[in-house]
Amino acid sequence: MNHFLDIHKTDAHELHAIVDQATAMKQARLGRPKVAPDDELPLDGRMVALIFEKPSTRTRVSFDVGVRQMGGQSMVLSGKDMQLGHGETIADTARVLSRYVDMIMIRTFDETVLTEMAEYADVPVINGLTDRTHPCQIMADVMTYQEHRGSIKGKKVVWLGDGNNVCASFLHAAGQFEFDLTFAGPAQLDPEADFMGFARSKGSQIQVERDAYKAVEGADLIVADTWVSMHDSQSSKERRHNMLRPYQVNEHLMSFAKPDALFMHCLPAHREEEVTSAVMDGPQSVIFDEAENRLHAQKAVMRWCLGV
Ligand code: CP
Ligand code: NVA
Repeated sequence: MNHFLDIHKTDAHELHAIVDQATAMKQARLGRPKVAPDDELPLDGRMVALIFEKPSTRTRVSFDVGVRQMGGQSMVLSGKDMQLGHGETIADTARVLSRYVDMIMIRTFDETVLTEMAEYADVPVINGLTDRTHPCQIMADVMTYQEHRGSIKGKKVVWLGDGNNVCASFLHAAGQFEFDLTFAGPAQLDPEADFMGFARSKGSQIQVERDAYKAVEGADLIVADTWVSMHDSQSSKERRHNMLRPYQVNEHLMSFAKPDALFMHCLPAHREEEVTSAVMDGPQSVIFDEAENRLHAQKAVMRWCLGV
């Protein structure tokens, strides 16, 4: 069994194999009704617990549907309704859940909740987002890039805005999938040095650029995310907006990237804040393919976790 905790903690060959399997599984489903089970049912008889300590639309629905398509069953649990949210330790929760279910996906705040869950669970644990990382999202994003433009190896990705959890997983992916990444944002919101250090240690070119226009020159892929994440205090909203406004992705900024550059956003997006509707709904945007590919990528992640 394997835990899927973070992209830098998973072997690069295995990450590539997961993306390839996700693409193959997506192809195999073409033309079928969305809810129809797959021809193969690798999760037949398996139960998966999906725990959410934060809100979710994509992660919740894509995991739930993915389990069902593969013949398994899932239960969605809200952290605050569990004893976990009322003082029971993570370790005890992990030991108990392992007696009932075959796999656990958790979305939580502090990443130590995730790592402790993995340490004490006898079943695979999957990271469905923490304050620091969001690996499932980036597996879907790499898959989406590959689908539209072929291999992401050697490409220039530009992240605009807050150096947040999604940015961190993009940096991990830069190292593992061998692409370069330029971060463009205010110094106060730089990604943690560890994340950049990992990518650089694998040979990726990681640049930090304060000028959004310079950053996007020669870009193959432009990525944005919300300026205020779920773990950020609402009282920081105005300060963050003021700092981040120069990094809004709009059509003018896109025109400085390569003409065939793609635009990605993990969603949910705040239209006319970090990105304009003209870009989100424009010809370079692949945001809804990314959302769809959460389903396919996570199905392959779950198979890898269970070895099925
Ligand atoms: N991108 C993403 O994880 O979306 P949700 O918060 O809706 O799950
Ligand atoms: N950075 C965002 C991603 C949401 C999917 C957040 O953590 O709220």
